[in-house]
Amino acid sequence: MAALTVVATVAVGGVLVAQSQRGETQTLPSASPSPSPSWSGLRGLAPPNMRIGSAVDGRRLAADQQYRETLAANFNAVTAENVMKWASLEPRRGEYDWTAADRLVEFAHAHGQAVYGHTLVWHASVPSWVTDDWSAERLRALMREHIVTVVTRYRGKVWAWDVVNEALNEDGTLRDNIFLRKLGPGYIADAFRWAYEADPDARLFINDYGAEGRSKKADALLGLVRELRARGVPVHGVGFQSHLRADQAPTGIAGNLQRFADLGVSVAITELDVRVKLPATPEKLVSQALLYQHMLTTCLAVSTCESFTLWGFSDGSSWIGAHFPGYGAACVYDREFRPKPAHDALMQELRSRHRQSTN
Ligand code: XIL
Repeated sequence: MAALTVVATVAVGGVLVAQSQRGETQTLPSASPSPSPSWSGLRGLAPPNMRIGSAVDGRRLAADQQYRETLAANFNAVTAENVMKWASLEPRRGEYDWTAADRLVEFAHAHGQAVYGHTLVWHASVPSWVTDDWSAERLRALMREHIVTVVTRYRGKVWAWDVVNEALNEDGTLRDNIFLRKLGPGYIADAFRWAYEADPDARLFINDYGAEGRSKKADALLGLVRELRARGVPVHGVGFQSHLRADQAPTGIAGNLQRFADLGVSVAITELDVRVKLPATPEKLVSQALLYQHMLTTCLAVSTCESFTLWGFSDGSSWIGAHFPGYGAACVYDREFRPKPAHDALMQELRSRHRQSTN
């Protein structure tokens, strides 16, 4: 029998399984006893220089005890899935509703979690009262007021902001949005400068999807960040959303992230989920686990990868079902908060690093 070249190991139902390049699997001896961190979940094994986070669903945070407990046990960082978006915070001109965003910040503070603010400028969260009929000056003043108001309120409480989200098209050109149309490409630099003015200690990120592996968008993002930094614009990091499919892993992610790190910026996995085509089968969940693990390994391998964030942790509160018909089961816990192979794979990856660093 040919030797099994192990390319990855994951825990499936508590049993370690090795997967070969040809997809063969084999049971492995169980790992040595786990260390006893103060937090039982992922965060208890997080390396000191990397945060492990999740997006948080504001409604579940307010209403679901099990959701809160799982969130507290696993993550030392939280991202506002929706509650810090412009349309959520200021649904009517001048009327801010901070209730849900404050609740998240308070929860994080009480549980020793860093808050990742998401997001200040995004075409999909512009309130309906902001329209193209406005003059450029008025829009510019409003955008500034919005950024300064939000960043100032959470100054010292939010460690990083996604300042500009999804500014690029797949072909690398700037996305047509109200800001580009009315203000021109300079809106990006302005947004970063205003956020910096409001909180000079916050880490300021530009965030996008589809730039994880080498692509036209990734090349353009690299060029944009290089150019912004050459002009002294305070861009500190690049967020790679990573909404992935279990059957279609992007390639060359480590090399791609490294070329951003080489520019001197931080990188972060900001919105990782791995959807599968329904129905989810044990095999698909193993592929999913391997991709989660691969993303974590990649983040761990890039020295400036500061945070690794999941876009929700439970299949019961994931955006995937509503946005990708036919796909689902994208998270590391199922709807009943039972850990899936992906959770075990992340734990195992962290545990092996933890063991190496404490030996
Ligand atoms: C999504 C939320 O998860 C959904 O609940 C909401 O309906 C739409 O936005 N990229 C982003 C996130 O930057 O803000 C998006 O979040 C997912 C894609």
